[in-house]
Amino acid sequence: MKPTRLAAAAFAAVALSVPLTLVASAAPVVDDRSPGHAKKDTLRRAAPKGFHIGTAVAGGGHHESQPYPDPFTSDREYRRVLAAEFSSVSAENQMKWEYIHPERDRYNFGMADRIVRFAKQNRQVVRGHTLLWHSQNPAWLEEGDFTADELRSILRDHIKRVVGRYRGDIQQWDVANEIFTETGELRTSENIWIRELGPGIIADAFRWAHEADPKAKLFFNDYGVEGVNAKSDAYLALIAQLRAQRVPVHGFSAQAHLSTRYGFPGDLQANLERFAALGLETAITELDVRMDLPESGVPTDAQLAQQADYYNRTLTACLNVDGCDSFTIWGFTDKYSWVPVFFEGEGAATVMWEDFSRKPAYSALRSTLASASRR
Ligand code: G3I
Repeated sequence: MKPTRLAAAAFAAVALSVPLTLVASAAPVVDDRSPGHAKKDTLRRAAPKGFHIGTAVAGGGHHESQPYPDPFTSDREYRRVLAAEFSSVSAENQMKWEYIHPERDRYNFGMADRIVRFAKQNRQVVRGHTLLWHSQNPAWLEEGDFTADELRSILRDHIKRVVGRYRGDIQQWDVANEIFTETGELRTSENIWIRELGPGIIADAFRWAHEADPKAKLFFNDYGVEGVNAKSDAYLALIAQLRAQRVPVHGFSAQAHLSTRYGFPGDLQANLERFAALGLETAITELDVRMDLPESGVPTDAQLAQQADYYNRTLTACLNVDGCDSFTIWGFTDKYSWVPVFFEGEGAATVMWEDFSRKPAYSALRSTLASASRR
């Protein structure tokens, strides 16, 4: 455990040992609903040195079917909060295959370029998402009639081109995303690369990404791997094997799309620690905590307290693990969250309301970050 993070651990110990209803009152999780936040009073300022607090940058994906313009380029208040609060940004959809490589011979780098430029202007690091995935691939790829050799060069060229373009600008890449099922089998039938080229393509993807940007840290990323289970076991075994073969794998990350319907994955820290023990960096990459909305659409105080507790415990677990220096939430305002679009009747999953005022979850994150700081 890092000495600088002892304070966070102490906070967590208190939070974990009391019933949920008490956590809300014991923890400093005031509900600050006024949108006019003090400029200095932000997550990134509260964070310990070297610890990156990040968010997804809203755009592409479900946003394209919603009745608002592109959030990142069109919403001034969104951009202000994005710059003020976060020291890391992830492209929510704008670096995925279907977005950045819409036709075989055409790339669409416009939005990814803007995100990287914004990050530089605001002294933020960038997480790249993602290079080898079964989902959000363009039709030309999924429905194309390619030989194995052609597919292999399509993947290699894409990785070289995309990773190479942002060489030096992207701190961590999710090279392989969601490659295992819940039972720890490779998603062979769903994943075009593994199905057509065999599992060896995973190592190649990491090698190509490393050649294109030797400084970027290369990650496996998935959901449902917060705890010790068949899926996280499969990653542990695969990564140990790849590292023994000197494949450049540097990190393992848990997305952490959580729900108050289910218990908190209490073995998150223990799980991350076993990856750290392999010499890997770890990260939380897509945290949100959704809930069943009451008929009024407004969460109860108890729901908000439970949500704050889940956010806080996820952060505390990461702070307590050596090499878990990147903690990203999947959007920071309910205004643009993917959750209500995917889960009927659920929502309120982020740390700010639609008008950017702060929920108890926000305050819990900030106070735990501040307690963990060397001040
Ligand atoms: O592909 C269809 C297209 O054919 C159709 O015309 C269009 C009409 O709306 O929808 C398109 O699908 C959309 C898809 O993005 C591709 O653009 C879905 O409706 C939309 O819901 C989807 O949203 C994104 C989702 O990934 C797709 O898996 C979300 O914006 C994005 O937040 C979400 O992010 C993922 C991470 O990348 C990986 N981990 C899980 C996380 C949450 O699902």
